[in-house]
Amino acid sequence: MNCQLINVRSFSADSEGILSVFEKGLDISFNIKRVYYITGADVEVHRGFHAHKKLKQVLFCPYGRIVVIVDNGEEKKEYLLDSPQKALVIEPVIWREMIWKKKESVLVVAVSDNYKEDDYIRDYNVFIKYVKQEEKCK
Ligand code: TYD
Repeated sequence: MNCQLINVRSFSADSEGILSVFEKGLDISFNIKRVYYITGADVEVHRGFHAHKKLKQVLFCPYGRIVVIVDNGEEKKEYLLDSPQKALVIEPVIWREMIWKKKESVLVVAVSDNYKEDDYIRDYNVFIKYVKQEEKCK
């Protein structure tokens, strides 16, 4: 599975809080071109339901609890983002679903490219066909 949960490097000073950081070369392999975040989703909201052809992403939850289910067309895995020190790197061609588990949870996504709708695969059957096609080309 082309996904990896990383421990985000963090610096703490007791009650002064925790500073967490990831950067290209040390923690992730790609440049970040765009950052977006999702706030205000109700508990048990499900989002996502798509894959990307080329886009690489880092997902993290600075506050709250969010489950991320990833699927490469052959197996599924579930990750719990419940700490600002956890980040999930998702490589291309992975179907994902995110489920909000706590009120006011925040999902931040840092990604490798600008928004391009034609990079999305939003239909699961098309995703499966795309995975099989990619395997044939290997
Ligand atoms: P989408 O990626 O489908 O969100 P999710 O998978 O979490 O449900 O995006 C939701 C909407 O926001 C969609 O209409 C496209 C728009 N959008 C942008 O215009 N720019 C962006 O960078 C992103 C991520 C989404």
